[in-house]
Amino acid sequence: MKREVLLLLRQRGGYVSGQEICGTLGVSRTAVWKTINSLKEEGYQIEAVQNKGYCLVSAPDVLTTAEIGSQLQSCWAGKALETHERLAFSTNLRAKQWADAGAPHGALVVADVQEGGKGRRGRAWVTPPPGVAVAMSLALRPTFSPMKASMLTLLAALAVRDGVSQVTGLVPVIKWPNDLALDGKKICGILTEMILEEEYIQYVVVGIGINVNEPSFPEEVKDKATSLRLAAGKSFPRAEIVARTMEAFERYYETFLETEDLSGIQEDYNHSLAGIGGPVRVITSSGGWQGTSLGIDADGSLLVRDEEGKVNAVNAGEVSVRGLYGYV
Ligand code: BTN
Repeated sequence: MKREVLLLLRQRGGYVSGQEICGTLGVSRTAVWKTINSLKEEGYQIEAVQNKGYCLVSAPDVLTTAEIGSQLQSCWAGKALETHERLAFSTNLRAKQWADAGAPHGALVVADVQEGGKGRRGRAWVTPPPGVAVAMSLALRPTFSPMKASMLTLLAALAVRDGVSQVTGLVPVIKWPNDLALDGKKICGILTEMILEEEYIQYVVVGIGINVNEPSFPEEVKDKATSLRLAAGKSFPRAEIVARTMEAFERYYETFLETEDLSGIQEDYNHSLAGIGGPVRVITSSGGWQGTSLGIDADGSLLVRDEEGKVNAVNAGEVSVRGLYGYV
């Protein structure tokens, strides 16, 4: 009900009469009044003027189902939505539990605080204080080959770039394959996990962590991590970033399905790719080598020209790549 009332107030952008809210939602005046009061208690500023109705003046920076759901204009990404103030484990794990229990394609789990967050390569993802970050996991049920699933991570990176830039005006760069950075420091990490059933994909979970309103970072990470707030000098509404990111992901996913590769987004991705045309070090299990980054190919591999002039397609699962100067 809160979601529906907020949606109506947002769609109008001005005063909506109590009678109209009742009529549209098919509920009583008392129910509307109670919902408005409860929203006010949560920090929403809603003006009530006799003969005019209700008007949404401002919204708190919360990651509730009502706040995200009333901003979201997607068809399927994030439409099934579950939010948590505090999750004792990772949103990826919660999304997997939900998918095991039958969550639909596009189901989204969002947590204000996620304890036990996981990063790539078995690393931990730091738990920020409440009210500052975004931890979310999107469950997908693709019918394409498992070989293609790693490309979803690159789609998610582009979607976060769009979500962040639409809401903040900041334009992050992508550190291949799936980190986003501003001012040479990380603002977002993505962890994609796939569950197989024999040789088919049962589901994929794309986990996205975004540093939004952190005022500072612990000493041990502050050279490598930043937040949108630190980059811009002001805070941003997290629910809007989640909504815009889901809408963008849905568009990129539909484009991806047309060819089942990245040919439709490759140019756009390379446009945002940090260090393209510059020197990179490819780190393998047996050491490493240096070359020039040429951007991704249609499969999402990074093309790197080595010192002999040979172009190598570097696969994200096998190696990592570092720019020679700093984190990106
Ligand atoms: C990385 O950069 O190593 C990937 C970090 C991914 C973090 C996100 S936060 C939401 C989701 N839940 C997790 O446990 N991990 C991802």
